[in-house]
Amino acid sequence: VTFERITVFGAGTMGAGITLVCAGAGAQVTLCDASPEAIKRAQKLLENELKDYSELRNLSREDSQAVKTRIQFQSGLFDCAESDLIVEAITEKLDVKQELFSRIDAQLPLASVIASATNTLSITTIAAKTRFPERVCGLHFFHPPTEVDLVEVIRGQRTAEDVVERCRSFIGELGKESVIVSDTPGFVVHRCTRPFFNEALRCLSEGLADAAAIDKILREGGGFKAGPFEQMDQIGLDVHSSITRALWEGYAHESRFRPHLIIRRMIEAGQLGRKTGRGFFEYRDVE
Ligand SMILES: NC(=O)c1ccc[n+]([C@@H]2O[C@H](COP(=O)([O-])OP(=O)(O)OC[C@H]3O[C@@H](n4cnc5c(N)ncnc54)[C@H](O)[C@@H]3O)[C@@H](O)[C@H]2O)c1
Repeated sequence: VTFERITVFGAGTMGAGITLVCAGAGAQVTLCDASPEAIKRAQKLLENELKDYSELRNLSREDSQAVKTRIQFQSGLFDCAESDLIVEAITEKLDVKQELFSRIDAQLPLASVIASATNTLSITTIAAKTRFPERVCGLHFFHPPTEVDLVEVIRGQRTAEDVVERCRSFIGELGKESVIVSDTPGFVVHRCTRPFFNEALRCLSEGLADAAAIDKILREGGGFKAGPFEQMDQIGLDVHSSITRALWEGYAHESRFRPHLIIRRMIEAGQLGRKTGRGFFEYRDVE
């Protein structure tokens, strides 16, 4: 593999899955988190995800065991000086990411690559806190990383071309496809979906039709895989809201990205979607 020793920072929703796909491709991976509880949760999650991943990829019992032995866990501060690639998947806060990047940058050999899995933050801004922004890029995995076989490779303002190329080769080795995208707020996927969600919210607030009907029309008539309301419920309205706000800020308050009042009210009411049992729809399978 292009990167043999990898450190993933952040053992949350994304970090565990990213760890698994990297180890699956043959890399030695250390998954680090500031919180020991997060590491414990990730260890459990990885046990279960490894079963599904092995089935999906038709891995033998031995191969599946080998993937497991390539993964190590670490909580607290971690010396990552031996890593060829760092994938940062920590909390979506610019100052927290910048602090981690400058710490990593200080201990990592120049040939190593530092990537962020950020959804919405600027790779260029994160890289600005490092001595060598040429080796910083974005690897925007989609959720869940074990299932979605596409990664946006984000080229920051100063990212070196060979860093982009090495990342593309690596994504290929994970059995995934990559697309190169310039560093813009929300990259392609969030930039295109925010106005889509917003327009659906306007249809709802103007009383054109109810949420189920709008979803049905866009699914069956519009050819979309899922309707906007079921998608927002799935993503979680809190997560949806923070992504929308990041684009609203990032595009200097352009009206197409303006956060809709319906979302704010629902968050205040604790209706966050599938995870709380209630969003635009009700979910009886959630306790
Ligand atoms: N959740 C998604 O669907 C999704 C999809 C694509 C990209 N992303 C991006 O991936 C990144 C992680 O998102 P997530 O949903 O997995 O977050 P999360 O909140 O589930 O997990 C973040 C983890 O980072 C840890 N952490 C925070 N600061 C740290 C530090 N300084 N050092 C080490 N660990 C630290 C926290 O303890 C936590 O366990 C974000 O940048 C997000 O934008 C998320």
